[in-house]
Amino acid sequence: MPQNPGHPTIAIDGPAGSGKSTVAREVSMRLNIKYLDTGAMYRAVTLKLIRKKADLTNLKVLEEILDQTTIQLGEDKQVILDGEDVTAEIRFPHVNEMVSPVSCISLIRRRLVAIQQAVARESTRESRGIIMEGRDIASRVMPDADFKFYLDASVEERARRRSKEQREKGLNLPEDSVTAEILKRDSIDSQRDDSPLTIVADAIVIDTTGMTFAAVVTKIIETVNMDFH
Ligand code: DC
Repeated sequence: MPQNPGHPTIAIDGPAGSGKSTVAREVSMRLNIKYLDTGAMYRAVTLKLIRKKADLTNLKVLEEILDQTTIQLGEDKQVILDGEDVTAEIRFPHVNEMVSPVSCISLIRRRLVAIQQAVARESTRESRGIIMEGRDIASRVMPDADFKFYLDASVEERARRRSKEQREKGLNLPEDSVTAEILKRDSIDSQRDDSPLTIVADAIVIDTTGMTFAAVVTKIIETVNMDFH
């Protein structure tokens, strides 16, 4: 039974292109709960490290850079890095390519997980409820979440969705290069030592292949509401 009926805490995990962000954002609006896209945080840190041409093996330098970094996430998809709007740039191919290697670094994960847990605590204190999405939300960031969903889809479908998203942003990448990028990220994200992408024992797995986003949203909301009544 949810700890705070009406203000659920919801974890959504899944691989690249599984539809987590679109679905989580819509669920947050329908349930009027907070939304946190943790992938955007890893992307913003990655962009900063690319710009600084940081040596990823030099933890002292990484720590200094992190100490001088601020990331703000708006409720409307906006990502602000050190005061600059980087919402579009964090989805570009140069960030896609580096974000998984950067996310393997425990120092970076520790920092971001602490911020994510503080956001979760704050929304609980405010009795607001939260939906947080990423790779390690159920396993590491919010292991006590009321609901844990794992969204999946075939590689072909995930590549199709990502290509469509990128075309809408004016980026025309061949679908096979998008597939290759997704497979590479899947492999790094699920095989890393620190908090790999995993399906926890009490997760509700939704295979979204062939489902519309609206159908996935409905399924999640029905599950949440069923437990409240
Ligand atoms: O969800 P996304 O594709 O925007 O995430 C980008 C990368 O960030 C993903 O390939 C791995 C990393 N990530 C992570 O390691 N842990 C999270 N909770 C969220 C994202």
